[in-house]
Amino acid sequence: MMKKNPYGHFTEDFREFVITNPRTPRPWFNYMWNEHYGGLVSHTGGGFSFLETPRDNRISRMRYNCLPWDRPGRYILVKDTDSGEYWSLSWAPTIDKKYEHYEAHLGQGYTTIHTQYAGIRAELTYFVPRDTNCEIWKVKLHNTTQQKRNLEIYAFQELMLGNALNDIINQPNDKHFTDVTFNKAQQTIEATRRYWVLQQKSASVEQPNFDWKYTLLFTMNLPVTGFDSSLDKFIGKWRSEANPLAVETGEMQNTEITAGDPVAALQSSISLEKEGAVDFSVFMGIESKEVNDPYKSLRVNDFKDNSIIEKELGKVKAYWDDYLSHFTAKTPDASFNLMLSIWNPYQSAVTFDMARNSGYYHGGLLFGTGMRDQFQDILGMVIVDPIQVKERLLNALQYQFADGSTLHNFFKITNHGERTHHSDTPLWIPFGLVEYLNETKDLDILQEKVAFYDQGEATVYDHMVRALDFAIGDCTERGLPKIRKGDWNDTLDHIGPKGKGETIWGAFFLCYVLDKTFALLEHKNDQQLLNRWKEAYDRIAGVINDIAWDGEWYVRAFRDNGDVVGSNTKDQGKIFLNTQSWAVISKVATKERAKKALQNSIKHLENKTGMQICWPAYRRVEDNIGLISRCVPGKKENGAVFNHASSWFVLAAIMNGNIEDAFRIYHKMLPVNASEKVGIDQYDTEPYVYSEYVTSREHETEGQASHSWLTGSSVWMYRIGMDWILGIQTSLKGITIDPHFPKVWGNADVIRKFRGKTLYIHISNPDNINSGVKSIKINGTDFHEHWIDVTKFPDDDLEIDVLMGK
Ligand code: GLC
Repeated sequence: MMKKNPYGHFTEDFREFVITNPRTPRPWFNYMWNEHYGGLVSHTGGGFSFLETPRDNRISRMRYNCLPWDRPGRYILVKDTDSGEYWSLSWAPTIDKKYEHYEAHLGQGYTTIHTQYAGIRAELTYFVPRDTNCEIWKVKLHNTTQQKRNLEIYAFQELMLGNALNDIINQPNDKHFTDVTFNKAQQTIEATRRYWVLQQKSASVEQPNFDWKYTLLFTMNLPVTGFDSSLDKFIGKWRSEANPLAVETGEMQNTEITAGDPVAALQSSISLEKEGAVDFSVFMGIESKEVNDPYKSLRVNDFKDNSIIEKELGKVKAYWDDYLSHFTAKTPDASFNLMLSIWNPYQSAVTFDMARNSGYYHGGLLFGTGMRDQFQDILGMVIVDPIQVKERLLNALQYQFADGSTLHNFFKITNHGERTHHSDTPLWIPFGLVEYLNETKDLDILQEKVAFYDQGEATVYDHMVRALDFAIGDCTERGLPKIRKGDWNDTLDHIGPKGKGETIWGAFFLCYVLDKTFALLEHKNDQQLLNRWKEAYDRIAGVINDIAWDGEWYVRAFRDNGDVVGSNTKDQGKIFLNTQSWAVISKVATKERAKKALQNSIKHLENKTGMQICWPAYRRVEDNIGLISRCVPGKKENGAVFNHASSWFVLAAIMNGNIEDAFRIYHKMLPVNASEKVGIDQYDTEPYVYSEYVTSREHETEGQASHSWLTGSSVWMYRIGMDWILGIQTSLKGITIDPHFPKVWGNADVIRKFRGKTLYIHISNPDNINSGVKSIKINGTDFHEHWIDVTKFPDDDLEIDVLMGK
């Protein structure tokens, strides 16, 4: 069974991670969200919420650069009026109290914190209902003692309301524009702001002249005995959320503010007989001011009914049950199963919706939705909800220019973005589109028209063609892609400022994306384009093989002045992982070179927790390479185990037939294994989701992970596990099963939903081999083709038996 770490463990069915010791190395997070309303919640009740986008429309505050760094949060303090003692139901902020019990259960879309203090047992569940723009803090209290207890309840949330970047820069000014009042009839705090910094891309002394267009409602379903909306009044002078004056004195000031820092704080009082219990909940929701009756549209009364709240939580759980039912894997390896079946698809849903935007490491102020990230992140969601993916694809295509290039990122609500000239960004469009088609075969999408960001409109197919043609056209005289402002690696940003520098990874990637479209072009019978692109592939592949092999491996790039990056001739940054992996993935490397490139990667780059992105890390700044050489060695792109890049190595190793190497690396990258290997106190981040990177042996903090949750490694590890290790691949023609097992695996059972059917796949590997399929039976009948067109089978369920063998 799953090993515990000193802070927690997975439940038997892997659906929850249970934290038993709240003093984790860092706050560990979970998400709760629906299509519009999103929030992060830490295992201590910390976290913030937003509508649509965390920069422009933040609801509640995150205090940046603060210790502890998950403050403030969604807190409920309980006070025993007889003893005067008070404590929080989420442990923080009253962390120095001696709790009798603490346990946080992190599940998909909800977080439940159990505590017991002074004999009062509590269960506090945070969640966001599926289709209302609100969040619920659902509480059960139980008096385990033999005395009647008189309790006061204080629920409070520090508010932000509007542009979070502006709040940081200009909060003393910003606070002159808030209106927070108490609606007596509704027993609800109503909050809004009189202006909204929206259109500006960056900070400016010029201020806009329009309203924040929302009203926030904060209420609870216990009788309200007092309220406050002034943070100053509620907390008191020289105090913090750990010891609010109002809680200590029991006196709420009932302040309504028209200026000042806003809080939504409500007080109630209850008595619990011995062994008595009570259920109640707190509601916070947001609605457009244009809506006449926000109480109605937000269903505030419904959400005061405990049984309806229970049902809404049930809907959240049912949504995730359904989501996870699209793919499950049962192999002999529990760490693999728990990631592939539960936490990896869950994390992929988070990356799909949050981009690199709403987290504690990506603080929601800078990135928006990255084009390259968005088109990669569909890889997970497309299995479950192709309709939503289609909407997302069509939406993202609006940020492409008529010449085929794209914005690098965009912000919801404002539709602003940056044109950074990263050379890879347009290429993720065909990448994502082909993956969508491989899952759905929805060829109709290709005919849909989408406007360009600058001028005119075109079909989706044409958008794709222009993206690739733009990349093909943006090459140097000798025929290699210009790196421009960087490629996938954002920190190679000063290799080609003069427009001459070339990216070899980008050349492989261009070949890979070209190759990826060929089946589609054939299917569409677009022979002319197919010929032209095949020629482009051959030409670029030829140039790479002529110029970019240094005898030991493929180099990474050439600078404006022609100087090479990532070669054995250098004393730092000698070898870069991505060019070795993508030489194989793009099928550009010859057999011999592929073998040597991968062997050298293992020799120089393998670490305890995965493959480091380059070696030796830069210790001397090179102005004509970029941010990478300014970063400390062993972290981030400068030589960390960068999981996204490490996952691509696993893919390359599988494609090259090095299955044992591939699995060894895949296995050590699984967060539960990586954190165990280096020790969780060293690892720091959540052991249930991938982090962007783990510090490599090139830094004294080796093993320390960072930037958990929002990383492209999530979808890639998911799909490499599914498509390559279990071997269940999709294409326009259907689905196929071609496993690549570590030899120790005797068998595996997989459930995969695909184009309306459910496939129950049993793979047996009696001879303990790495790959090779001897026979396939579908519903008991031998099947001899490679691609299974599931639509040809009348049944909804297909039983597929795969026998591995030579
Ligand atoms: C970060 C960025 C991603 C980029 C990667 C490598 O993860 O979010 O877009 O490709 O770093 O630089």
